[in-house]
Amino acid sequence: MKRYHVTTFGCQMNEHDSERLKGMLESLGYAESQDRETADVILFNTCSIREAADNRFVAHLGVARRVKRERPDVVVGVGGCWAQSVKEDVFRQFPFVDVAFGPGQVHKLAEFLTSDSITAQGFFEFEGFTGRLPMHRAREHQAWMQISVGCNLRCSYCIVPSTRGREVSRPLEELIVEAQRLAADGVREVTLLGQNVNSYGRDLRPERRAFSELLTAIDAVPGIDRIRYTSPHPKDMREDVVRAHAELPALCEHIHLPLQSGSSRILKAMRRTYDRERFLDRVALIREHVPDCALTTDIIVGFPGESDRDFAQTLEVVEEVGFDGAFTFVFSPRRGTEAAGITDGVVAHETKVERMERLVEAVQRRAAERAQRFVGRTLDVLVEGPSRTDPSRLRGRTRHNKVVNFAGLARPGEIVPVQITTATSQTLAGDLPLVARAAV
Ligand code: SAH
Ligand code: SF4
Ligand code: F3S
Repeated sequence: MKRYHVTTFGCQMNEHDSERLKGMLESLGYAESQDRETADVILFNTCSIREAADNRFVAHLGVARRVKRERPDVVVGVGGCWAQSVKEDVFRQFPFVDVAFGPGQVHKLAEFLTSDSITAQGFFEFEGFTGRLPMHRAREHQAWMQISVGCNLRCSYCIVPSTRGREVSRPLEELIVEAQRLAADGVREVTLLGQNVNSYGRDLRPERRAFSELLTAIDAVPGIDRIRYTSPHPKDMREDVVRAHAELPALCEHIHLPLQSGSSRILKAMRRTYDRERFLDRVALIREHVPDCALTTDIIVGFPGESDRDFAQTLEVVEEVGFDGAFTFVFSPRRGTEAAGITDGVVAHETKVERMERLVEAVQRRAAERAQRFVGRTLDVLVEGPSRTDPSRLRGRTRHNKVVNFAGLARPGEIVPVQITTATSQTLAGDLPLVARAAV
């Protein structure tokens, strides 16, 4: 039997795409190999969001080059956003690559592998959803659902619109059937994926659909106990979606709402289409309807032109909102983006580093403070498996998306009540109450 090996970089959408890639290969009769040395097909699902992502992948490719030298029959394939961003140039930069494909052409890999082609080939059209390919799920009780791909916005720093194309939504009926199938297969939690999930459905014809309609429809699927989504855009965060969090039993009390900057001037240069007031207004709306909602965010420091004052405004928003967590990034100029061409006001490296340190301190301090509200409460935890730091304990997640390490007996996939005893900025710790422990 032939074997494949896939290495995945980048976001959850890429993780999802890799699950489908694996499913497709398995339907062709390939089996997964644990290492590259024994694989007949070596694949990389790449990301290009920041420069560090590119570099990480290039280092891995060196291993593939060596394997290919030793075993020339091995097929080396490069898919994903980096491949899409360089297209045919893949073959010039890395002559040992046999096949390259963008995120919209994963299905073409099957064509390539089943053809007699001996020449290198690249596939870079935007067509087809990976969500329609067979699936090989990494987690038994949790699943990704690709509800849309692509992005119609043009944030000036971002490479994604050029790597994932224009936004296209999958039909609502198709997604309900998928959720039903997942539930029948033991899945309890789904995470809806899209570059801009809350603009879902506006492109659908004959009937436009709203993201909140989709949430309501999936909430009604028996067996799906938890719904998450990522990422929504603040400009499209409307009251119907916020209300859905209060009203739909399965929709979790967590929203990842990317801020990027707390300065309206920088947000404008980023072309984010909202300002600081609008963002804070969205936070107020969320807290009004779902007071206990966890809020996480993405923040970029060192965007060209960011002054001390602009950065101070970002810190102010972090202090004011009190995010439950944040991903923080140093601005990285990406090829072909508007911001990469800005030469005025480039922020010095030391300034970026210093701002990042201050930002991380504020984010973690506020997250740790916020997490104290869980101590003493009993929260529902979806068990994922043994704790990563102490295998005698279990690990799971609350509806707020907080990782909990706890003592007790429970099986992966169970939702159990856990008494929270301590909290840090990142994780919670607790115990299964004795009554619940006796029941399992
Ligand atoms: N579609 C999502 C973002 C996807 S990219 C959204 O609009 O929120 C994930 C995060 O990477 C972004 O939110 C941003 O904070 C960061 N990012 C994207 N491009 C970047 C760049 N060129 N430099 C630094 N960070 C970047
Ligand atoms: Fe990139 Fe902006 Fe689209 Fe997000 S919304 S994928 S940051 S262009
Ligand atoms: Fe990276 Fe593409 Fe995701 S650039 S972050 S893999 S959409």
